[in-house]
Amino acid sequence: MSIEAIASEKATPETVTQVHRWTDSLFSFKTTRPQGYRFTPGQYARLGLAADGGMLWRAYSITSAPDDDFLEYYGIVVPGGAFTTILKDIRPGDTIWTEKQSYGFMTADRFSDGEDLWMLATGTGLGPFISILRDPMVWEKFRHLILVHCVRHEEEFVYQEELAALKNHPPTAAPRAELQLVRSATRDTAAPSAHFGQRITALLENGALEKRVGFGLSEQSSRIMLCGNPEMIDDTRRILHQRGLRPCRRTLPGQFVTENYW
Ligand SMILES: Cc1cc2nc3c(=O)[nH]c(=O)nc-3n(C[C@H](O)[C@H](O)[C@H](O)COP(=O)(O)OP(=O)(O)OC[C@H]3O[C@@H](n4cnc5c(N)ncnc54)[C@H](O)[C@@H]3O)c2cc1C
Ligand SMILES: NC(=O)c1ccc[n+]([C@@H]2O[C@H](COP(=O)([O-])OP(=O)(O)OC[C@H]3O[C@@H](n4cnc5c(N)ncnc54)[C@H](OP(=O)(O)O)[C@@H]3O)[C@@H](O)[C@H]2O)c1
Repeated sequence: MSIEAIASEKATPETVTQVHRWTDSLFSFKTTRPQGYRFTPGQYARLGLAADGGMLWRAYSITSAPDDDFLEYYGIVVPGGAFTTILKDIRPGDTIWTEKQSYGFMTADRFSDGEDLWMLATGTGLGPFISILRDPMVWEKFRHLILVHCVRHEEEFVYQEELAALKNHPPTAAPRAELQLVRSATRDTAAPSAHFGQRITALLENGALEKRVGFGLSEQSSRIMLCGNPEMIDDTRRILHQRGLRPCRRTLPGQFVTENYW
């Protein structure tokens, strides 16, 4: 049985339609969408690339909206990484295998109540929040949407134009929510101007994030999503626990959900 035949049992070959390069190591790409493919914003796809006579599979958060007729992803090139060493050279017309099923539990429908949705991302952990913000649902459900993106360098503040446009023109005729965009770049030598220069954890501990946003975290109002670097997620989880906030469990409602990228 060929590798393609084995892959086709669980995945479909999709065609790359567009590649956007943000920096030398950051890029977004679109593919055709498998027929009947369903996902909830916040979920991820499992993508496959042919490599050395076999297949490599990796998880990629979907950034496109649920009703787009394409799938979009946002990625980084990891130096020496098996998958991204191949993925970095993709061009329109190339094939990316896409598992038929979508995965993941970091979705806004995990929260049955709450007024403020905090989305805290490091690096490419921004991706699922792009999909969530392209979906009318959160704009109608919440009072405030707060997107915090923390990167090493300012040039990694991607999707800025679209986020600014979404803030002014939400994707629904009846928006309830206001969007606040908060950015932080931790490794630039120049003093930050419009954005912060500290980690999300530091901004939570020293109160600067809540001060900027204008209101605090609370068990009653805040629902929080954490995505990206697993150490950031562990450290933030500890801070949230100290504030009396708890993770959502299948049987127990909570205030936060997480997605580790490695
Ligand atoms: C649920 C889930 C969703 C994911 N979604 C995305 C996504 O939307 N975009 C994306 O670029 N990656 C995402 N990843 C990571 C992705 O699956 C691969 O790990 C990544 O593409 C690197 O693959 P690799 O084989 O080149 O290196 P790997 O051998 O897989 O990784 C090597 C090392 O690179 C670092 N690394 C891996 N991924 C990242 C990353 N995203 N940012 C910074 N450092 C990283 C880690 O230190 C890791 O140990 C996701 C992972 C998970 C588990
Ligand atoms: N970012 C780049 O310019 C770049 C370029 C080429 C290759 N890469 C490769 O990509 C990988 C890293 O990618 P990345 O920069 O997107 O991810 P990252 O290392 O997770 O950094 C993203 C942001 O998360 C912060 N962070 C890290 N650990 C944290 C913690 N425990 N608590 C709170 N915040 C934390 C970082 O702050 P600190 O800065 O304080 O750590 C940084 O602001 C590496 O393999 C790297 O070699 C990155």
